[in-house]
Amino acid sequence: MRLAIYPGTFDPITLGHLDIIERAAGLFDRLVVSVSLSSPKTPLFSMEERLAMLGEVLVAYPNTSADSFTGLTVKYAQKSGAQALIRGLRAISDFENEFMMALTNKKLVPSVETIFLMTRAEFSFISSSAVKEVAFYGGYVCDMVPPAVEKMLRSKYGGPKG
Ligand code: COA
Repeated sequence: MRLAIYPGTFDPITLGHLDIIERAAGLFDRLVVSVSLSSPKTPLFSMEERLAMLGEVLVAYPNTSADSFTGLTVKYAQKSGAQALIRGLRAISDFENEFMMALTNKKLVPSVETIFLMTRAEFSFISSSAVKEVAFYGGYVCDMVPPAVEKMLRSKYGGPKG
């Protein structure tokens, strides 16, 4: 069975992430979308909230599931029996950091490959930070996040302010 892990902070999951999930799920027998709890970012959503949002969104993709992990991503992938880590690339600016991570991970566990998927052009401007900022100021985020996430953002920040 070909298993891949899609790791990230997912604070929150966006339509850009979802596009990567849909395409990676088509390439592997199983895809585990996993929330890293070792990210240096201070999240808006708790681990439970992020897993709940992932759970709702992943229902549409039967060969996917949500998980969380601490520590090194590549060690977690190895322990899970995964062949690959999936990462999305939006722009050249993502490349440097992703390249460094992929090479470091390869050094740590050579058997786990990193596979990059190019984000679809219409989602290439989306980031979790931008979504949170727009939602914080009451802007419209429905075309950036799945409905379950929009609901959670509204419950944190309140509804659109016109
Ligand atoms: N569409 C939309 N947005 C995307 C995207 C896509 N396809 N791909 C990435 N992004 C955005 C996210 O919204 C996020 O935006 P933000 O910076 O505003 O929050 C940003 O790009 C990156 O987010 P994400 O894909 O969730 O990854 P991450 O950079 O938060 O996670 C880890 C990185 C967790 C995978 C990495 O830090 C890690 O592996 N940590 C564990 C410790 C470890 O193993 N370290 C060794 C690394 S060498």
